Amino acid sequence: MLLAGKKALVTGSSRGIGRATALAFAREGADVVVHYRRQPELARTVAAEIRAMGRDALVIRAEWESSEEIDRLFNEIEERWQGLDIFMANAAASTFKPIMDLKPYHVQRTYRMLVENFILSAQRAVPLMEGREGRIITVTGHGSQFTLPRYGNIGSAKGAVESLTRYLAAELGHRHITVNGIAPGVVTTDSEEFYMGEKLEEFHRVCVQATPLERIGTPEEVADAAVFLASPLARFVTGQIIAVDGGLALTSGPFQETFGSF
Ligand SMILES: NC(=O)c1ccc[n+]([C@@H]2O[C@H](COP(=O)([O-])OP(=O)(O)OC[C@H]3O[C@@H](n4cnc5c(N)ncnc54)[C@H](OP(=O)(O)O)[C@@H]3O)[C@@H](O)[C@H]2O)c1
Repeated sequence: MLLAGKKALVTGSSRGIGRATALAFAREGADVVVHYRRQPELARTVAAEIRAMGRDALVIRAEWESSEEIDRLFNEIEERWQGLDIFMANAAASTFKPIMDLKPYHVQRTYRMLVENFILSAQRAVPLMEGREGRIITVTGHGSQFTLPRYGNIGSAKGAVESLTRYLAAELGHRHITVNGIAPGVVTTDSEEFYMGEKLEEFHRVCVQATPLERIGTPEEVADAAVFLASPLARFVTGQIIAVDGGLALTSGPFQETFGSF
């Protein structure tokens, strides 16, 4: 097992990519904090699956827009476990609108959750990693490097997270903590469905055509990359953003659409 005895926090692990990662970490031997905001029953189900594997699971609610709730979550981890080996900042939410239609509170909420409170949570996680070869993993996305319709708010915040991933990697190397990011392409989850709405089926058809590996990704495939980054296999990897996208970022839409394939 790659993560035997490790203590991990995965934010937003009640569903989607976070859930798959929490389960994958537990399968590799880690105890996991299952964090959620609105759906305790989903979080409890994930925790039950983790305990059925013989690992410990803490279920903790925290609104990631609130610095007080983040502090409370880390206080609870400190009290229960006295330390942390892996922190994966996965939870995200935003408003999907053209930049010209964004109100200040749309921007403030997204940036508070994804940027400001990522910094705050890293500041809380790092002292808990003292002497532990810690791992911080961010989750960014295709929309941080490429422009997607109505995605400027979250896409630009994820761009900041990618930059913070590199800065933190440089700052935390001397503490033997690695910091890396995962940029998923298109992965089947609730948030993808929310973003695409009624265009989901058409979107999948076009995505499959534009993806060299000819399919949409699964949360488990992102989780596998997270296991790698969290494990000793990635001990000399830091400050990197790994695309888990089937090669989507390699292609160019109009060429693909015109010629059908390579
Ligand atoms: N799916 C994709 O195609 C894709 C592509 C690129 C990047 N990503 C990134 O991958 C990550 C996971 O995405 P996903 O598709 O798995 O998302 P998801 O299915 O929508 O799950 C989001 C998770 O985040 C939690 N969450 C949302 N807002 C929160 C808040 N304000 N405070 C605390 N927790 C909150 C949710 O908890 P509750 O349910 O309890 O509210 C849930 O556990 C995100 O960073 C996303 O941007 C996904």
